[in-house]
Amino acid sequence: MEKYDKKAAALVDRSYQTPEIVNQRLRTLNAMALCRGESVLDAGCGTGLLLEQEALAVGKAGRAEGVDFSEDMLERAGARCADMPQVRLQQGNIETLPFEDASFDAASCTQTLLYVDQLDQALRELHRVLKPGGRIALLETDWSGAILNSHDQALTQRIFGAWDIALANPNLPKRLRPLLRGLGFAALRVEAIPILNSSYSENSFSANMLENYAAVARRRNIISRAESDEWLAGIDGLIEQDAYFFCVNRFLFTAVK
Ligand SMILES: C[S@@+](CC[C@H](N)C(=O)[O-])C[C@H]1O[C@@H](n2cnc3c(N)ncnc32)[C@H](O)[C@@H]1O
Repeated sequence: MEKYDKKAAALVDRSYQTPEIVNQRLRTLNAMALCRGESVLDAGCGTGLLLEQEALAVGKAGRAEGVDFSEDMLERAGARCADMPQVRLQQGNIETLPFEDASFDAASCTQTLLYVDQLDQALRELHRVLKPGGRIALLETDWSGAILNSHDQALTQRIFGAWDIALANPNLPKRLRPLLRGLGFAALRVEAIPILNSSYSENSFSANMLENYAAVARRRNIISRAESDEWLAGIDGLIEQDAYFFCVNRFLFTAVK
């Protein structure tokens, strides 16, 4: 994702409500172990899908704050959480969080740090706003480990490789643990959450993202329009033969301040 406009917000809403991402969200939520009455921050809350679940977990006696710098994402988050008085949304950059020190019992940041320019600063901010003993949950992807059956694997690798150029922090999962340790986080745990589509379904994460992968590579001049069309047509051919296969790992990091 290179822009955070209405189109991107619609794509996030659609692709993040597929069963694989619903499962990922539930695992993130379970790992945070939120209790009634607690305060929680979702940094880079997007369209509010996780924030809504966090707000339900802390209840009306709690507080669920979402920060995102995209108005279009926040508009959807606002509509989603409209009848939840415990939810507050703010437009802002997670590199300079608009909260006092030690404001939250828990904080999450999912699929967002990969886009953030000042990564160290954003991690410091997440640490700062947590209370001592506060829990953090971070979720990230490394696209260099993505697998897709295609008729031209070299072209597929070039297309997935476009993420390494398009993102501020590609391949973050393998570097994140020492960064968190360096900030003083303890009880660090990491688990892999595979997004596995071993057959084709329109309501799957990868099916929703195929056009986007090709578009990112095109915009970065890594592939031409003809290569993009050929790649998508090749995948259509494999779908017809019931030979579709996609997998990429998300990595869930949890820690305590
Ligand atoms: C892929 S979406 C993920 C949304 C949400 N965390 C989720 O998992 O459903 C990435 C979000 O990060 C936001 N974002 C990226 N960089 C940001 C920054 N520096 N400060 C605040 N929001 C940011 C974007 O606007 C977008 O909503």
